[in-house]
Amino acid sequence: MAEVVIVENSRAAGDLVADAILSLIASKPDAVLGLATGSTPLPVYEALAARVGDIDLGKVSAFALDEYVGLPASHPESYTSVINREVVEPLGLVPERIHVPNGATETIRSAGADYERAIHEAGGVDLQILGIGSDGHIGFNEPGSSFASLTRVKTLTERTRSDNARFFDSPDQVPMHCITQGLGTILRARHLVLLAFGEGKADAVAAAVEGPLSSMLPGSAIQLHPHTTVVVDEAAASKLRLADYYRYTFDNKPEWQGI
Ligand code: F6R
Repeated sequence: MAEVVIVENSRAAGDLVADAILSLIASKPDAVLGLATGSTPLPVYEALAARVGDIDLGKVSAFALDEYVGLPASHPESYTSVINREVVEPLGLVPERIHVPNGATETIRSAGADYERAIHEAGGVDLQILGIGSDGHIGFNEPGSSFASLTRVKTLTERTRSDNARFFDSPDQVPMHCITQGLGTILRARHLVLLAFGEGKADAVAAAVEGPLSSMLPGSAIQLHPHTTVVVDEAAASKLRLADYYRYTFDNKPEWQGI
């Protein structure tokens, strides 16, 4: 089962996950990170930027989960721009080592297979950061996505488009299509770290962690992974039936064991 860590707030979550990432990099300087966009991972990136100091991240590479199709990479809300602004620049990562699926329409037919190949050639993702949508999506794998799916083009649901409209001037500017790592791609990462904050995520978190495995709740795919850590605040944890058990387990965890 996933390890569930219930923290006081998103800042504490950011600190915890940033420490885990830095300890991974200390033991593996050429670590491959899986990056998510959206609001949820921001405290992780902020905590990392605050800690990085003299640590050499020159060999670290990273793969983003997803990108909009047809939105120019130079658009401020393309995930290419977001990853540059929120991760690459503040952490001083080497831009050539940071990959985002290519959402250009001219090459879209081969973009999924190209991305899978690039992840494979990099040796696979060591630690994948995940957020979760209010409908249970991870990456842009909307309900109904196959657990075996690989990087491919998907149509965004109206709910996700309206959730993401806050980043655009108007809801109709949110692209209709995206290219996203599949659930099968995500499950190949060696460690999954799913974060969620706020009451609006409580149902999705409970269903992903404790509900039945179902493609209708793509986040439930994490139950198939041997090493998943779910880091949530009290509000996002509020519908977990085993919350007390997760607290007990974490409080009694051997000191030497990281997340
Ligand atoms: C973004 C991504 C999405 C988000 C999810 C939650 O790369 O993969 O699955 O993690 O939509 O978004 P936020 O964090 O903005 O609530």
